[in-house]
Amino acid sequence: MTEKNKVALITGITGQDGSYLAEFLLSKAYEVHGIMRRASVFNTERIEQIYQDPHQSHRRLFLHYGDLSDASNLNQLIKIIKPDEIYNLGAQSHVKVSFEIPEYTANTDALGTLRLLDAVRGSGVKTKIYQAGSSEMFGQATQMPQTEATAFNPASPYGAAKVFAHHICKIYREGYGMFICNGILFNHESPRRGKTFVTRKITTGIANILSGKQEKIYLGNLEAKRDWGYAPEYVEAMWLMLKQDKPDDYIIATGETHSIREFLDAAFRLVNLNNWEKYIGIDPAYYRPVEVNLLLGDYSKAKKLLDWQPKVKFAELVKIMLEADLKQAGLDNQKFIQHLPNHSRNGAGIK
Ligand code: NAP
Ligand code: GDD
Repeated sequence: MTEKNKVALITGITGQDGSYLAEFLLSKAYEVHGIMRRASVFNTERIEQIYQDPHQSHRRLFLHYGDLSDASNLNQLIKIIKPDEIYNLGAQSHVKVSFEIPEYTANTDALGTLRLLDAVRGSGVKTKIYQAGSSEMFGQATQMPQTEATAFNPASPYGAAKVFAHHICKIYREGYGMFICNGILFNHESPRRGKTFVTRKITTGIANILSGKQEKIYLGNLEAKRDWGYAPEYVEAMWLMLKQDKPDDYIIATGETHSIREFLDAAFRLVNLNNWEKYIGIDPAYYRPVEVNLLLGDYSKAKKLLDWQPKVKFAELVKIMLEADLKQAGLDNQKFIQHLPNHSRNGAGIK
């Protein structure tokens, strides 16, 4: 007798992580349901490639219109889909934008999580839940590196909304015995990263400069440091959390931190443009009212309990993203990309 395929529901399936997670779960023979928002233009670009898959995994992918601000929609979907696992990735995820639309951000990221938990609780469906928490919850961090025990000190409406979501998940876990895991993921990037996040803004900017479409990249604070990992590896960690016997909270990070300046240096060097300052303009519009200066994660709990550790680190991540953007711009990688020294795979960067 064959085991019934597991059923997963992903909020935020059209985003960077949602698209990688959908592919990953389909490769594990899951039936995958995704909630997508209605948009006036196509917003399914990141999941288009599932439809090209020769194994026809799109036959196990189902998309539903919905929104984390709509409780009746969430209640209905949970009752119809009866998922074994829910991955709550849907969010207004841009930190700077959260200062401009704080109420919308709180409604989606904080109350949206609560609505989802209540929909599950009210439905009586037994499901495991992954909550997409963020290193931004540490904000102006009180401890270096940050561990699961570090106090939250958010520095943006986004960070505050995610702290609410984190705590409400813990409260429902403890109060109602629900299986809910909080991932505390540090920044993770990929060729599918939104183009307004700094890494992708730089790599698409370089591709545009090389193809003569753009002269400069306008940025904000170059001194901030982030712990940047590779998104496909991070979605696997989400799945591993739900595989454990007991629900818990885990930090997922690389254990390295690099400044925006270092990212610029590494990326421009790869295409042999060593004097990168002349291609960069500083625009105060990209400064945040409060900045998070330094994030650095300690992933030792995930390593010990989930047997998870990052493989792609800083130098390789920059290369993966840049190569993808050069290719997308129709530029020949062989001509532009410099060969990396062998030690780059596991990060020769400043710790
Ligand atoms: P992303 O690319 O911005 O994707 C966000 C997703 O949420 C999109 O599918 C978006 O839909 C959807 N969404 C936005 N508002 C919604 C609403 N009101 N109702 C339902 N869905 C909504 O983000 P990501 O990088 O994949 O991140 C995934 C999750 O992890 C987010 O919760 C983010 O806050 C969190 N996180 C990300 C990182 C990171 O470095 N990437 C680190 C820590 C935590 P549209 O496509 O229609 O906009
Ligand atoms: N976006 C952006 N655009 N950031 C810039 C720019 C710019 O032009 N110039 C400098 N930065 C700096 C920001 O001030 C910040 O210090 C850093 O680059 C990283 O910014 P983002 O790439 O926007 O990411 P983030 O760290 O604010 O937030 C991302 O990571 C969080 C995890 O810590 C998002 O993915 C969040 O959703 C996620 O939770």
